[in-house]
Amino acid sequence: MNKPSLFFALAAALTLPIDLIAQPPSLIIHVNHVTARVSPTLYGLMTEEINHSYDGGLYAELVQDRAVGTGFGALLHWAMVARGQSVANVSVDETTGPSAALPRSIKVAVAAATPAAPAGVENDGYWGIAVRPHTVYSGSFYAKTDSPGIPVTISLENDSTGAVAAQTTVTGLTGEWKQYAYTLRTGDLPVTAGNHLILTIPRPATVWFNLISLFPPTYHGRVHGSRGSQRQAVADGGSDRIDIMDLLAAMRPKFLRFPGGNYLEGNSIAQRFNWKKTIGPWVDRPTHMSPWGYRSSDGMGLLEFLEWCQNLDMQPVLAVYAGYSLDREHIDPGPALEPYVESALEEIQYVTGSTATRWGAERAKDGHPAPFPLHYVEIGNEDQFDRSGSYDGRFAQFYHAIKSAYPDLQIIATAPVKSVTPDVYDQHFYMSAEESFAMAHHYDDYSRSGPKIFVGEWATREGDPTPNLEAALGDAAWMTGLERNSDLIIMASYAPLFTNVNPGASQWAPDLIGYNALTSYGSPSYWAQVMFSNHLGREVVAADLAHAGPRVFTSVTRDAVHHKLFIKVVNANSIPLPLSIDLDGAAAAARSAALTTLSAKTPNATNSITHPRAVVPVTRTVAVAGRRFTVTFTPYSINVLDLNY
Ligand code: AHR
Repeated sequence: MNKPSLFFALAAALTLPIDLIAQPPSLIIHVNHVTARVSPTLYGLMTEEINHSYDGGLYAELVQDRAVGTGFGALLHWAMVARGQSVANVSVDETTGPSAALPRSIKVAVAAATPAAPAGVENDGYWGIAVRPHTVYSGSFYAKTDSPGIPVTISLENDSTGAVAAQTTVTGLTGEWKQYAYTLRTGDLPVTAGNHLILTIPRPATVWFNLISLFPPTYHGRVHGSRGSQRQAVADGGSDRIDIMDLLAAMRPKFLRFPGGNYLEGNSIAQRFNWKKTIGPWVDRPTHMSPWGYRSSDGMGLLEFLEWCQNLDMQPVLAVYAGYSLDREHIDPGPALEPYVESALEEIQYVTGSTATRWGAERAKDGHPAPFPLHYVEIGNEDQFDRSGSYDGRFAQFYHAIKSAYPDLQIIATAPVKSVTPDVYDQHFYMSAEESFAMAHHYDDYSRSGPKIFVGEWATREGDPTPNLEAALGDAAWMTGLERNSDLIIMASYAPLFTNVNPGASQWAPDLIGYNALTSYGSPSYWAQVMFSNHLGREVVAADLAHAGPRVFTSVTRDAVHHKLFIKVVNANSIPLPLSIDLDGAAAAARSAALTTLSAKTPNATNSITHPRAVVPVTRTVAVAGRRFTVTFTPYSINVLDLNY
């Protein structure tokens, strides 16, 4: 954060009211001069599997590495359990698994065990498993045994006390792979995060396991992306964590850009987000290595993304793999690219097709007969990094194929192309606070004759693991520019959205929302977005800011139907800003307004998992003396004045 200008510092030091020694800072709002229509889809979300965004984050699965698939490494999260004198060995068996997609398994060979001293295997969850009182947990696993009839006892146990929070026993195992469902119910107990899941047997036998799953209650209790027996297994739950979905719902996002980001591209073509391997029963999802250094369970597959959109009333912005991966592997345009184009067309059909279509029918089989709305398809991600120059041709091939099958779809390019004009360009900005302040006017004079702009990734990068107030000030300054220019900027989404805050869980900082196994919180940047998207009119009106000095940013929108003005003022300076506001052209103004402010004594102030609400918006009523009035905005503050006129 730079120091305020000498002028303001002097005024503050002398405790002179600024308006006695200079022209007072003023904002003249030309209430009836509309400069742009606000894009109804301006604020949305961008997401991918990074920082344990889904596995260990939004996707509520409690068991880490639930599936042992091809390419699965060591058993990092599965450990042998041998109580008392029991003897057991836990290993990966390469020779047997429940499906072609999951051809391996966890082999639990118990040489000695009794009901009082059972043996088996345990999972430590995602940096713990949260347990709450009076809660029903829904689980399932695949298993076979060399001792038909062997019972498997499943418990949730506290890491430090060993206290059993819930327990049940599953019977009927045979020599064939089969799925078993179970339920764990907790009673009256304290909320704890440090628990693990244990599966034991009471006598010598060998049991092979795979896809051991456990879900808490989930958002809206929807059933996500599962069919057949899997649907049964999770019948009382969906897949999204309630607390994180509540945070997202408060942002009122209008769209979701998915599945990446780098996660779409993969480190190699083989590791791309191959949507066909993310649909259907979990047992048919092989899992895959993500570019962010850990394996994705693919529990959050294509249908789960779409149902996430449905749950929050967001429209999907579907990014399709476009023949380029991060290791600079690419597919040349032409016949070699055709299978990828075909796959994208099939993916669009899976999203939008009726049940009479091949992939619409597949979606219905997966549990969702109704098609999803789709207006935007993005071709690749950050293809400016493809130095081979193939993007122009790759984009054109996708563009023509998609437009000819779906003429109404808007096609988004991720890098400049010449041979065809995209409908929209996706631009990304990762900035320091100073850069965000400097970029707040980036789009003011931007050409309006080209494609529309989607700011598909942006962030002010100050703070770790989540952004601090300084970052939020930069974000808010930047967002005033997005709003003022929202005739051009049709969509904008911060990135990355999520981080699990446990050591080793994250690959990128800062991230908008942080969480551990138990709780979650919004950063100051999160709250800035909540404020901006919850106070957005339908039209931008002209506003002249004068004598305010540096690091003051504004945008004004109106909702003429409801006679409302939303005046946003960012004061990124260390001194108060007494701003004289003139509602030019307003017939009348209310006598009071609601002022919502996000601020703190220092720009380093932040929220954290232990202090989740240190910096949150506060709303108060301020008196408004007619069409001309003065409001003093506190140092380091982001403000929205909500006013009837
Ligand atoms: O947001 C993190 C990464 O930044 C995204 O995966 C990528 O698109 C960008 O480079």
